[in-house]
Amino acid sequence: MTVTRSRVVGSGSYLPERCITNAELADRLETSDEWIRSRTGIGQRHVAADGELTSDLATRAARRALDHAEMTTDDIDLVVVATATPDLTFPATAAQVQANLDIHRGCAFDVQAVCTGFVYALAVADNFVQLGQSKGALVIGAETFSRILDWEDRGTCVLFGDGSGAVVLRPEEGDGTAADHGILSTHLHADGRHKDMLYVDGGPSTNQRAGLLRMEGREVFKHAVVNLAQAVDEALEVNGLTGDDVDWLVPHQANRRIIDATARKLGMTEEKIVLTIERHANTSAASIPLALSEATGDGRIKAGDMVLLEAMGGGFTWGSAMVRW
Ligand code: ACO
Repeated sequence: MTVTRSRVVGSGSYLPERCITNAELADRLETSDEWIRSRTGIGQRHVAADGELTSDLATRAARRALDHAEMTTDDIDLVVVATATPDLTFPATAAQVQANLDIHRGCAFDVQAVCTGFVYALAVADNFVQLGQSKGALVIGAETFSRILDWEDRGTCVLFGDGSGAVVLRPEEGDGTAADHGILSTHLHADGRHKDMLYVDGGPSTNQRAGLLRMEGREVFKHAVVNLAQAVDEALEVNGLTGDDVDWLVPHQANRRIIDATARKLGMTEEKIVLTIERHANTSAASIPLALSEATGDGRIKAGDMVLLEAMGGGFTWGSAMVRW
């Protein structure tokens, strides 16, 4: 049976220049490099410069992904930006990115699923491609979480960073088996009963402010371990695969201990996990495409590799994507 798959043909990323180490945070907060590293695996985070917007980060990653794919903006008819930190309430950050790239056709919109945003955006774009509605899609995760952090709250501000990553999708014919290149499956979940565990205390309809991030860290941790195990099982089962068939796990980079728990579930050793958390911290929707861009750029992920993406975030939302590179 011939099917249309969305093949990932390019990736790119961008990190703002300014980098803040744990030691610098410890100078102004009651915390330490040892506490942050041992609880989270984070060593430093990048922070956008004054006036540097989410759309600026997104545009840089998108240009690099297009170059990597050897495509031009003329080839793009869909721009999806996953972000929880848009430039403005509206228009969508994707519209600004589209304008920055001088693209005047197709459609552009944002997807908001916080840290699961990239997996959600990838699933949406994959559906467009499979239905023949897009012949070239830019899927971007971009965040400036530094703008919504309470820098006095040591329980949250040490965890996050700014950055962006992007992939380009193109249709490719496959035979409907796991041997095809491209996105083999996506699974998305949400359970809004847990919306108060991780949220921002502002918004246009609530109090007309951007607000700051608030989190019940322990509860998020517990749910993440359970939900991600479920997402991983589902992805393996639907594709008739086992953990041994997966060449690379590219997890959302929230906490090293959450990642290790998921890897254990898959029976995966550290060499098969793409880890960026030590250098990037949690960049929310940007973390997976940033990690993908690094691991394809340095030759770890190669054509034909089986790559499993998984993420969990505010909402709660969670999900996975199985991709043959
Ligand atoms: N430095 C030093 N001490 C700290 C810090 C800090 N940065 N932050 C909190 N503490 C203290 C607390 O005040 C508390 O002190 P107390 O015992 O005197 O009251 C103590 O450390 C323990 O606090 P807990 O919050 O219980 O610490 P825990 O071991 O749960 O670790 C953490 C906190 C790292 C936030 C953990 O719960 C976690 O990683 N949760 C997942 C959250 C996450 O990843 N969120 C990202 C968004 S969702 C996602 O992407 C999956």
